[in-house]
Amino acid sequence: MSDWYRDFANSGVGGTLTKQLGLPRPAVLRRYEPGEPLLPGPAVIGSAEEGRLREQLSSVLKDAGVSVLSPVAADGSGDGEKLAAVLLDATGLTGPADLAAVHDFLAPALKRLRPSARVLVLADPPSAAPSPAEAAARQALDGLVRSIGKELRNGATANLIYVPAGAEGSIASPVRFFLSGRSAYVDGQTVTLAGADVPAGEDDDKPLAGKVAVVTGAARGIGASIARVMARDGAHVVAVDIPMAGQSLADVANEIGGTAFQLDITAADAAPRLIEHLRERHAGVDIVVHNAGITRDKLLVNMDAERWNSVMAVNLQAQLDITQALLDADGVLKAGARIVCVTSQSGISGNRGQTNYSASKAGIIGMVRAWAPTFAQRGATINAVAPGFIVTEMTAKMPFGTREVGSRLNSMQQGGLPVDVAETIAWLSQPGSAGVNGQVVRVCGQSLIGA
Ligand SMILES: NC(=O)c1ccc[n+]([C@@H]2O[C@H](COP(=O)([O-])OP(=O)(O)OC[C@H]3O[C@@H](n4cnc5c(N)ncnc54)[C@H](O)[C@@H]3O)[C@@H](O)[C@H]2O)c1
Repeated sequence: MSDWYRDFANSGVGGTLTKQLGLPRPAVLRRYEPGEPLLPGPAVIGSAEEGRLREQLSSVLKDAGVSVLSPVAADGSGDGEKLAAVLLDATGLTGPADLAAVHDFLAPALKRLRPSARVLVLADPPSAAPSPAEAAARQALDGLVRSIGKELRNGATANLIYVPAGAEGSIASPVRFFLSGRSAYVDGQTVTLAGADVPAGEDDDKPLAGKVAVVTGAARGIGASIARVMARDGAHVVAVDIPMAGQSLADVANEIGGTAFQLDITAADAAPRLIEHLRERHAGVDIVVHNAGITRDKLLVNMDAERWNSVMAVNLQAQLDITQALLDADGVLKAGARIVCVTSQSGISGNRGQTNYSASKAGIIGMVRAWAPTFAQRGATINAVAPGFIVTEMTAKMPFGTREVGSRLNSMQQGGLPVDVAETIAWLSQPGSAGVNGQVVRVCGQSLIGA
């Protein structure tokens, strides 16, 4: 599904016309292609004060073959090469006065960005600050990064990683994700890391090699895209969907060399059947992606119980029941397991006509946060991904005006693609993402709705 307006705005005549009329000019985003370098150009690394992550950041970039230039001088002098990424180690901040150094580093560097550049700030979390002044400086970065995300154009993104003391060993996988084309539609996000046992030497092309991954709702849409990306990254995918979607489910499974498993996740015996299948056919499971979801929209005053109950059953209760059953089933959930739950921007912002859907999706966020410590104890993780406006067959059927407004009201001025959601889920599923737990990552191009 092509974005006709983006293509027009990037054509010769369209480019001139949209500029003259002051219309949005959505960029063609840099998306991940296996085998391509992490970044298409050099990076700079700055540190606000005495940051403790600088050396580690340098080695992550060095391992990925990225050339690191010296920071651009405040007057803009120095090496004029365009930058593919600007990284700031802001872990040394002690109070608001230190933020001047943040400004001094970022302002000239941001003048030199290439298309689809990445701005990434790493800092200590405000919650663990020893003083209100330090908490203020750390929290200030959140507002700063979100604003930078809104100022950047040309497909560039800005994101923030909070790194508490003891979580330094967890940074490589998130840093690589936010710099890469995998995060093309992830903008203005904050992720807080935890300390974890992170395995060394991950294969960047096949990070999920040898893993068994269940993806629910895999017969079409975002779920099919998740299944394809997981398989591309090396996983054996058990694609789950309702029997009515059996043919398209089989098509997806065959295409990616996976297994099709017909299952209504709300059936009373859904969890035991899935567990039996995983135990017998795959000797357990490493990754579970709870993607299946439905909408039954109506204003609350007109909503019948069927609409309410069916949405709760598919979107929330099934995720709870299957996850609990997996935790209880001896030896099925393998060491270092990853659970990724698909929620929605509507679960964060609320949406007219979607009280049932928004409640179910907000419930997922509560569930993920509550379960994170339990999963951490098992060396596992549970996270949520919240898509914003994603271009699917469903959104293609929306009336023109509604679709255009919905898809342009974000920093990228375009809708995301199912693959953008899939890439984020695949990243959270990697062994190297062990330090990302209990997080909610929006894949919404920094949507203005609920931002
Ligand atoms: N499309 C978007 O813009 C968007 C935005 C935010 C969140 N989401 C979420 O992303 C997920 C996927 O959305 P999509 O747009 O691809 O939807 P979709 O309707 O195209 O696909 C959902 C799939 O889930 C399956 N499913 C439904 N009930 C099931 C059940 N009881 N058991 C097993 N499978 C079942 C369906 O058969 C279908 O194949 C959903 O959780 C949705 O809420 C989508």
